[in-house]
Amino acid sequence: MATKRPKQKRASGYAKDLLDVATMPRMQVDELLRLAAALKAKHQRGTAHSLLAGKTLGLLFQKPSTRTRVSFEAGMNQLGGHALVLPVGEIQLSRGESVADTARVLSRYLDGIVIRTYDHAIVQEWAAESTMPVINGLTDLSHPCQALSDLMTIKERKGRFKGLKVAYVGDGNNVANSLIEAAAKVGMQIALGCPAGYQPDQHVVDRARLEAARTGAAIEVCVDPQIAVKEADVVYTDVWISMGREREQARRLRALSPYQLNGRLLQKAKPDAIVMHCLPAHRGEEITAEVLDGPQSVVIDQAENRLHMQKAILVQLLRQKKGRA
Ligand code: CP
Ligand code: NVA
Repeated sequence: MATKRPKQKRASGYAKDLLDVATMPRMQVDELLRLAAALKAKHQRGTAHSLLAGKTLGLLFQKPSTRTRVSFEAGMNQLGGHALVLPVGEIQLSRGESVADTARVLSRYLDGIVIRTYDHAIVQEWAAESTMPVINGLTDLSHPCQALSDLMTIKERKGRFKGLKVAYVGDGNNVANSLIEAAAKVGMQIALGCPAGYQPDQHVVDRARLEAARTGAAIEVCVDPQIAVKEADVVYTDVWISMGREREQARRLRALSPYQLNGRLLQKAKPDAIVMHCLPAHRGEEITAEVLDGPQSVVIDQAENRLHMQKAILVQLLRQKKGRA
């Protein structure tokens, strides 16, 4: 039986791991936003640097991924380090080796690891058993790297957080949960229009409301997408059938079809509202092609920012000296 180690903090005072936005200090989020913008500018100028020379990042994905996997891998290379994809079926985890033993051993080889998995408790176990930083690359509960880079996109487009209203319509899933945490952290209003049974995680909402009371944010959850979108500055949606929910397809399509982000719904938002989607998208389901490919959509720039924000996360977490297992 694995012994639990006390929560480790790094020299910066920030936690070793990045599992959720809610548990990050505001100062850490602000620092990431500054660093990501600086790294983006450097990348655009073509300035060479090797902030993570000699470091190796592991990538362990138990669900498919295009953006997260490729942007972490490319980002690590751009920072002068090396990324190592660990195909799940080719490591001993797939033959029953424990997470604890795998995490302890990999901590001796790697400087950090990104995990994409199902149950959120699995990334928590990785974090508890590793001495290297563990980054949540998406669980059924949350997608913090997405939400942090979405903050970057919103800041670029709108220049601020305070006074903005973000609307999220559709399935109150992992992406919605992290967006709520991010909005609460930076003091933005967020309104979610999700049908009964598909609303965001109640613990996430309760905890975000406590944070919102400190930051001036407001978290509203309702069943009417039109109320959620009314006068919004940012309109966000995500797929109705997240990875792992495929067997619920028919039920989900029935419940969520009134929540499609289409031209009619978008008209309720401010005329200069931007449309966001974490991608991959299903045109004709949660969003129409007209809106996803329309003039208000920022989804490709949004996806690009995954690269810059994740490089900032890597620099923040991996540059600090790693302890011994
Ligand atoms: N948005 C996002 O995380 O995309 P991938 O599933 O392609 O990584
Ligand atoms: N909610 C989606 C996000 C994909 C990036 C899923 O979990 O499949």
